[in-house]
Amino acid sequence: ETTATEIIETGSPQYVPYLSEVKDLPSLERHLVKEGFMSHIRIPLMVKGEAIGVLSIGAKRPAAFTPDDLSLLEKIASQIGIAMENSRLLTDLDELFIGTVRALSSSIDAKSRWTAGHSERVTQYALKIAKEMGMDDMALGELELAGLLHDIGKIGTYEAILDKPGKLTEEELKLIQQHPSRGAEILSPIKQLQDIIPCVKYHHEFYNGTGYPEGLKGEAIPIYARILAVADSVDAMGADRPYRKGKPMEDIIAELKRCAGTQFDPNVVEGFLKTVGDGQ
Ligand SMILES: [Fe+2]
Repeated sequence: ETTATEIIETGSPQYVPYLSEVKDLPSLERHLVKEGFMSHIRIPLMVKGEAIGVLSIGAKRPAAFTPDDLSLLEKIASQIGIAMENSRLLTDLDELFIGTVRALSSSIDAKSRWTAGHSERVTQYALKIAKEMGMDDMALGELELAGLLHDIGKIGTYEAILDKPGKLTEEELKLIQQHPSRGAEILSPIKQLQDIIPCVKYHHEFYNGTGYPEGLKGEAIPIYARILAVADSVDAMGADRPYRKGKPMEDIIAELKRCAGTQFDPNVVEGFLKTVGDGQ
């Protein structure tokens, strides 16, 4: 009698025509016999020459399998092995992708010590708001990417402007205000990011149409961008700047309420307030 471990070790299939005749069955098999199984075939699932699991097929008849069955099951096992390997590769690829996005995102935030960790925090606020608003996992995944990349257009902005204490000149302001469009341009060649580009491009639009770059209004601003706008402002207001200390949460809440309907989508503000236990 071979155990599943042995099948993995030897890499060869095993056919037991009469389970009841095998002495010292391992406990799993004893259980199967109790359930009425009388014979079984077990085939290793091979990935790149290595057994990573066992496909076990049982029958409630003795000697139920023919050599043809064995060869068919071997083919199925090989398909399963390929599918498992593909799924592992996909997971690896996903991890590589999100890891690369994170690295990119933190490298932008690191341009100024005042914005270190900003995109990561904005993403976390945005995800909480979106969950509160009932968005599904797919939407959350896109919002996560959009949050991490929303300021990628700052990559070409001089650190001196980002770090400038006090008011910016009109020209400096113009440069800063180019970052959403620049971000959209930077991401535009990446096929997988097409859906999040509008969120990057419009995260500084105002709900009443007085934001930039296009002055979009209300529902014309993509919902993810409206969420990012609130999340972005929450983090920006809370963070210290060279010229001022960060605001406490109660002041941030007051400011969001004041600007709901003008700068921010009131529904998104409401979603945020719920995440901090303020239902008003
Ligand atoms: Fe921004």
